[in-house]
Amino acid sequence: MKKTIIITGGAGFIGSHVVRRFLNNYPTYLIVNVDKLTYAGNLENLKDVADHPNYRFERADIVDAEAVRAIFQKYEVTDVIHLAAESHVDRSIEGPMDFVMTNVVGTVNLLQAAKDAWKGTEGHVFHHVSTDEVYGSLGDEGLFTEHTSYDPRSPYSASKASSDHFVMAFYHTYGLPIKMSNCSNNYGSHHFPEKLIPLMIHNIQHKKPLPVYGKGDNIRDWLWVEDHASAIDAIFHTGRIGESYNVGGLNEWTNIELVRFLCQLMDQKLGRPTGESEELITYVTDRAGHDKRYAIDASKLKEELGWTPSITFEEGLSKTVDWYLENQDWVEQVTSGAYQDYYETMYNKR
Ligand code: NAD
Ligand code: DAU
Repeated sequence: MKKTIIITGGAGFIGSHVVRRFLNNYPTYLIVNVDKLTYAGNLENLKDVADHPNYRFERADIVDAEAVRAIFQKYEVTDVIHLAAESHVDRSIEGPMDFVMTNVVGTVNLLQAAKDAWKGTEGHVFHHVSTDEVYGSLGDEGLFTEHTSYDPRSPYSASKASSDHFVMAFYHTYGLPIKMSNCSNNYGSHHFPEKLIPLMIHNIQHKKPLPVYGKGDNIRDWLWVEDHASAIDAIFHTGRIGESYNVGGLNEWTNIELVRFLCQLMDQKLGRPTGESEELITYVTDRAGHDKRYAIDASKLKEELGWTPSITFEEGLSKTVDWYLENQDWVEQVTSGAYQDYYETMYNKR
């Protein structure tokens, strides 16, 4: 079947994996990557598919409603997979307004454009990619299900929760054919090195301090990014309209356990004495309002669509470390310029 799919945020971490997967797996689809190229978006992430005959790139800000409408008209868009967002919690604490603009206003612009373009026609999908952070923070027990009440606690998660509500409102009010997914923490190649895992890999490699927030006892549930892309593929194609699906790999780690594990793995890979990198661990001031624990119940996705993660965390982390060690140029490129100022400011504050 022919489709023309806008993938927003395709130059970012997860978006680049989704673009690549769709180009490789669906030769009858035209994929239009719509991305503003913020500090987090980098066309290097897609250089292997840049010349693919079914790939187009449109540099656009989704906050610009006219630009969004023009892209819908130019390509006669049939479907949307929406990933563009401001994605980093620490940045949202420093300045929430970019998160309101992109994550809320940008999402509503896309919803409006899709509603108008698809009026009176059928067979479309608007897939909104969201996060488990909308559910808030768990105690020691329990998992987030699709029925867990929303309880966002950071400016980032508040903006994503708001966008989720608008997506559902467009389904209920206008019958827009939406699907939604709420995923746990991703890791893998092309992950911007402000986030925990790529930051730690970079700092271990260069023998810099490893900043662990608070006591390091916060828990995250980690999923390999290519398994998230496969879940988006399954939900986009076979998920039910009007439904949300939780995505996660039942893989909880405290931050400090994870950082220690990475240190041991990298000591081996770099031929360092065991325990050398752990000496770099530095406990720093905690993140404001730091959510204690995230953990996903993905049984709906497994039972309805047969999705399961493809690799273990140990395998995925080993591949990820290898990718960063082999792609030092990429790290240097994306961390130059504006990012460097941010990193220095954030780090010197602690
Ligand atoms: P990212 O920060 O790596 O990439 C975001 C992309 O969006 C970048 O390419 C950026 O240039 C683009 N973008 C930002 N603002 C834009 C705008 N106004 N107009 C057009 N493009 C814009 O993010 P990511 O980690 O790949 O996350 C992608 C999506 O998945 C987000 O919606 C995020 O909330 C969600 N998510 C992320 C994770 C995770 O662990 N990273 C987990 C669950 C859900
Ligand atoms: O759960 C999904 C979410 O996961 C996504 O929606 C977000 O876009 C994504 O950024 C991620 O959010 P987190 O805040 O969980 O990820 P981050 O990598 O920033 O932090 C992971 C944990 O590590 C968190 O408990 C904070 C801690 N941390 C983070 C950094 C950057 C540290 O201890 N030190 C650090 O330097």
